[in-house]
Amino acid sequence: MTSLDERRSLCDLAETLAREAGDLALAGRKAGLSEVRTKSTATDMVTEFDHVCENVITNGLRNARPHDAIVGEEGASDQGTSGLTWYIDPIDGTTNFYFDLPNWAVSIGVVDDEGPLAGAVYVPALGEMFTGARGLGAYVNGEHISVRDNSLLTDALVCTGFSYAPERRLRQARRVANIVHKVRDVRRFGAAAIDLCFVACGRLDAYFEEFLHPWDLVAGGIIATEAGAVITNFSGGIMEPREVLASTPGVHKELVALLVEATAALGDAESDSLL
Ligand code: IPD
Ligand code: CA
Ligand code: CA
Repeated sequence: MTSLDERRSLCDLAETLAREAGDLALAGRKAGLSEVRTKSTATDMVTEFDHVCENVITNGLRNARPHDAIVGEEGASDQGTSGLTWYIDPIDGTTNFYFDLPNWAVSIGVVDDEGPLAGAVYVPALGEMFTGARGLGAYVNGEHISVRDNSLLTDALVCTGFSYAPERRLRQARRVANIVHKVRDVRRFGAAAIDLCFVACGRLDAYFEEFLHPWDLVAGGIIATEAGAVITNFSGGIMEPREVLASTPGVHKELVALLVEATAALGDAESDSLL
């Protein structure tokens, strides 16, 4: 059990390291990229700054919190003894980073055995630092944030994301085709952690995506929850990286019904082959 003061200091540590790594990546991106490789598919990229940022963050965490576990997207993996685990996405939105679009972030979150505890999502190109911790609220640049007050599905601005695997992406696009005419509009910004923060601060009513990883979700998840969002899977059950729906409470039930209907319309046989 952590105290409020401990959670505040975990959040401060996430913020400090996210800023350090993000400012470094922003300066590096301006100077130009030299190493770009692909990972799971031809469109899943990793740059030298994904690795540099992860190293800066893991070194900072190891110094400040030597007994915590660490899991980083680019390979960091420390066993811990404290019961706390840090999840790092050194650059969430690497495709945006590569194309010099502003929606990329450093995402650092920490969990205990009850779930997400604290986190920071830093968007250097927008100059925005989103933070949140259990029981302490959610903030952007120190200002308190909360979800948009909306209970009309037809007025809901809904964001989604697409996997790197083409066969998954095709199915996700077909699902979106069953949704886009029933909401105000659909967005695809390209960084899961920022999408969650945009729900948190009311720039979006909802965000859904599937086949994510804990490092995409821990920091943005606690920020969205603390801002008043409801986070579940597509059928309203417990959220997992396999399926995430985060929304302002007023449209959540209707969005679950819409996602269930839109997914059923795709046909089960196709879904099973992608799991
Ligand atoms: C990706 C982004 C993207 C989402 C993908 C993620 P990465 O993370 O969050 O918005 O649609 O599913 O994998 O690869 O840029 O860290
Ligand atoms: Ca990511
Ligand atoms: Ca990443």
